[in-house]
Amino acid sequence: MFQAPRGTQDILPEDAAYWLFVERTARDWAARYGYGEIRTPTFEETGLFLRGVGDSTDIVEKEMYTFQDKGGGELTLRPEGTAPIVRAYIEHGMASRPQPVRLFSFVNCFRYDRPQRGRYREFHQWDCEAIGEIDPLVDAELIILLWRVYQALGLRDLTLQLNSIGDARCRPAYLERLREYYRPLVATVCPDCRRRYETNPLRLLDCKNAACQAAIAGAPRLLDYLCAECAEHFAALRAYLADADLPVEINPRLVRGLDYYTKTVFEVWPAEAGAQSALGGGGRYDGLVEQLGGRPTPAIGFATGIERIILNLKAQSIEPPLLPGPRVYVAHLGDRPRREAMRLADALRQQGVPTLVAVGGRSMRAQLRHANALGAPWVVVIGEDELARGVVQVKNMRGGESVELAPQAAVERLAAGG
Ligand code: HAM
Repeated sequence: MFQAPRGTQDILPEDAAYWLFVERTARDWAARYGYGEIRTPTFEETGLFLRGVGDSTDIVEKEMYTFQDKGGGELTLRPEGTAPIVRAYIEHGMASRPQPVRLFSFVNCFRYDRPQRGRYREFHQWDCEAIGEIDPLVDAELIILLWRVYQALGLRDLTLQLNSIGDARCRPAYLERLREYYRPLVATVCPDCRRRYETNPLRLLDCKNAACQAAIAGAPRLLDYLCAECAEHFAALRAYLADADLPVEINPRLVRGLDYYTKTVFEVWPAEAGAQSALGGGGRYDGLVEQLGGRPTPAIGFATGIERIILNLKAQSIEPPLLPGPRVYVAHLGDRPRREAMRLADALRQQGVPTLVAVGGRSMRAQLRHANALGAPWVVVIGEDELARGVVQVKNMRGGESVELAPQAAVERLAAGG
């Protein structure tokens, strides 16, 4: 017996209503904020992620699905959506379009992570990127967009974690301070942190290991080291978010797991679960376009996990709008009635009525049971007798009553709602 590979899942029809609800809400709000859709390939040259995501991140060190294709090309299934979208921005000369270019995408992502609730090896993100503008107004709009989507879905008890991690001007001095602070503590922290101390000290602040929490609690805060430009940017962003009534929590330890961020970083957490199950996250990445071969171009974006949104909808008992099931079930007995059933069903579908025709050689009783099990509110019955008289029976499965109508009249009645 085959099973779906570990960390992947099948999305069955009964879950489709949740997926459509999330995707439609996201699309609707993306349009209100001027975002256009982009779709990029599922795999990219491996170098894009090495350069884009950062080679001392967990994603690049441990989690990428990297392979050689039959032509010898080094490829990687995308672990995230930002680097590919920036690659497309550069490749298609989008710098010559009106800036910022606002793009959204639904992407499946692949990370070789330890699977658990809300953490998968293939998962889906809704990703938004605004490329080509430094104004903190863009940061605010993008964060408000994400928040409004969660609100429109009906999600409650979320917090917005916000921080600024500075830029190339102010961060190096802070990292020096951080290293100094950690120097006497290195022996006490976990092996991962000992490595981070050498390769990527900012990530020290993001360690989940219990042994490292005391060190983190006493560490200097990057917010106290921001240069004037970063501090002003952060203050302006906070003012816009306050005007929009977003419940912001300034979190000086929030550093994110990808290396491209500058200035603004943020995550949205469910009330109790915290960082391990962030619903969404993002930030500015003012250096990434240049790092990937474009001209220096500021940008900001976020991604939110669709599976995690759906887990939270279910946990909060939020029901998506129902998807239309079959409205009409056409039951028949005999060869000629079967052909008439096909003809009538076709006419109904052309009128926009979701219709199923009985299949196989079931008895009339079994057909009615089948219609009931499928939840069809109407059944049309066609037998030799009805055919001979030029009528069909239209039966209401909820109320039980039946009327005889000419086939065309039955189609019109059912198309008008029954
Ligand atoms: P990220 O924080 O790595 O950011 O992922 C964004 C969201 O994807 C997470 O908040 C979570 O909801 C979901 N997610 C991540 N990993 C998994 C997983 N293994 N299983 C299920 N869901 C997961 C990024 O990917 C950045 N590209 C976001 C961004 C866009 N920054 C700027 N622009």
